[in-house]
Amino acid sequence: MRRAVIEGIGTSVPPRVVTNEEMAAHLDTTDEWVRTRTGIEQRHVADPDTATADLAVEAGARALKSAGGGDVDTVIVATTTPDRLCPSTGPEVAARLGLPKVAAFDVDGACAGFVYGLATAAGLLAAEAAERVLLIGAETMTRMVDPNDRTTAVLFGDGAGAVVLRPATSDDEPGAVGPFDLGSDGDLAELLAVPAGGSRRPADADTFSAGDHYLKMDGREVYRQACRRMVESSRAVLDRAGVTVDDVDRLVGHQANARILDAVANGLGVPEERRVVNVARYGNTSAASIPLALADLELTPGQLVLLTAFGAGLSWGSTLVLWPDLSTA
Ligand code: ACO
Repeated sequence: MRRAVIEGIGTSVPPRVVTNEEMAAHLDTTDEWVRTRTGIEQRHVADPDTATADLAVEAGARALKSAGGGDVDTVIVATTTPDRLCPSTGPEVAARLGLPKVAAFDVDGACAGFVYGLATAAGLLAAEAAERVLLIGAETMTRMVDPNDRTTAVLFGDGAGAVVLRPATSDDEPGAVGPFDLGSDGDLAELLAVPAGGSRRPADADTFSAGDHYLKMDGREVYRQACRRMVESSRAVLDRAGVTVDDVDRLVGHQANARILDAVANGLGVPEERRVVNVARYGNTSAASIPLALADLELTPGQLVLLTAFGAGLSWGSTLVLWPDLSTA
């Protein structure tokens, strides 16, 4: 079975930065509360004219350039904040990238969306249903939270990160992705959900006045589940690959909260110098958080990176990446 290899990475964040102090000017919160509870110091926020597809197109174009240019035959957008409920964002993104006839669709794994997208891309390449895939994690999470709800508004930011994948020529080629561990628990969906606006409760004046088109969250239970599931899933994928945590050069967890990332790293026994934490700059960008963190890394091709993510659904997933040789592009 042919594996997938990452051959290019690109990102995009909106230029406007909103600090905790700026949020505290209109919300009953403080910089100190947000920093100590989450590690977040600022987040990038899209202006009213910018939607998820705009960030996705920019990140996608940069990833294609980083991969040496050329076309892809498949575009996957991992997002839980699509431009519209219908159609999916992928076809518009593909068309705007000059790829109007390619396969294009969205994957909604919420904050685990990028790992689910990697698994989808790897599966398409393995099945020879695709020859080159552009996977983009893109979100405008600040549109989904109630700007007046201090329990969610301070946590999220906007951004996008993308990778280009092609089939591997050998199993240990730099950039190789896999194996995967994916899971979900839909019985706990209400812990983190937007109650209205879908087919269960279509949006109307009542849902609007109740604010039920915004994300609602049981923060404490989400925290507990996130720590537990990311540790379990990481262990499962390490076992599947036949490696141990000592073989892992970097742990890239979903960047939701510095305390969750610490708890996961401590649970796995990953030392501090091998942890990647950039949540201070971006906040929680959901499906964009892992590619935004990958883009910051400077590693030697072939070094082992463990990705693990958790989000609404509940859903979670982990995989391993041999650091790609990005200098060849
Ligand atoms: N500023 C000031 N006070 C606040 C704020 C805020 N922004 N938000 C909540 N509070 C208050 C609460 O109202 C509560 O007040 P009360 O005691 O008077 O009722 C108090 O702070 C403590 O609230 P807790 O919820 O107990 O605070 P906790 O220490 O659990 O931290 C947090 C809350 C940061 C949300 C934490 O539970 C968490 O990180 N959960 C994970 C949530 C998450 O990351 N979700 C993202 C999506 S899923 C994912 O990506 C993993």
